[in-house]
Amino acid sequence: MWRASVLTIFPDVFPGPLAASLAGKALAAGAWSLDVADIRAFATDKHRSVDDTPAGGGPGMVMKADVLGRAINATATDQRPRLLLSPRGLPLTQMRAEALAGGAGVVLICGRFEGVDERVIAGRSLEEVSIGDYVLSGGEIAAMVLIDACVRLLPGVMGAPASRAEESFAEGLLEYPQYTRPQLWEALSIPAVLLSGDHGKIAAWRHSEAERLTRERRPDLWAAFLNRSRGGPQAG
Ligand SMILES: C[S@@+](CC[C@H](N)C(=O)[O-])C[C@H]1O[C@@H](n2cnc3c(N)ncnc32)[C@H](O)[C@@H]1O
Repeated sequence: MWRASVLTIFPDVFPGPLAASLAGKALAAGAWSLDVADIRAFATDKHRSVDDTPAGGGPGMVMKADVLGRAINATATDQRPRLLLSPRGLPLTQMRAEALAGGAGVVLICGRFEGVDERVIAGRSLEEVSIGDYVLSGGEIAAMVLIDACVRLLPGVMGAPASRAEESFAEGLLEYPQYTRPQLWEALSIPAVLLSGDHGKIAAWRHSEAERLTRERRPDLWAAFLNRSRGGPQAG
């Protein structure tokens, strides 16, 4: 069973939204499991301190290597990847989520304050993973994002398996526009081709719309898509 272990100083926020919808049903059905460790339980002083002032001075606090190291020792006892949620990490991609979903699970370490003592990153072989180029107050929401992106890819979790193949990023393109009834809404109608019943034309329209949206919105993805179409090397 795919297993997510989360280390956090806010264990009560889990499972949060992961208990809803597809991920929640799959969790209840035993398609994946979630265990949450309270980092504070590994503090040894009477105040249960998990952070201290930065060496060299400066603002904020830093998560202590000794406390976090003990928490990781107790939790990460198998070969699953140990990922530290961090704005400094490589960005999470659909390709990475697929690779992680194909493994045994993940151990996720949620940072807080100014981040974690650098020595614990090296000493416990943590890989930093970012969910985007912005700064959150803590790693918990980022951990939920990563778990959700993986869990929906587990066998049997998603409603219609075909939808996965057509989603954004599946072919390196953003998804085409979607419509549903009513046919006419506020003088806006569903594009005629989608009502034509001609599956070839529909597929061609969707593909050209996916290309247009990717070209207009994500020049980075578009360049990578063109490179792949020409047989160039694939990025990770
Ligand atoms: C306030 S942030 C620390 C930011 C850090 N001082 C920096 O400038 O890189 C606290 C924690 O939130 C989490 N976090 C913030 N932004 C994130 C992002 N974009 N992706 C993943 N985790 C993030 C990390 O666990 C981080 O240790």
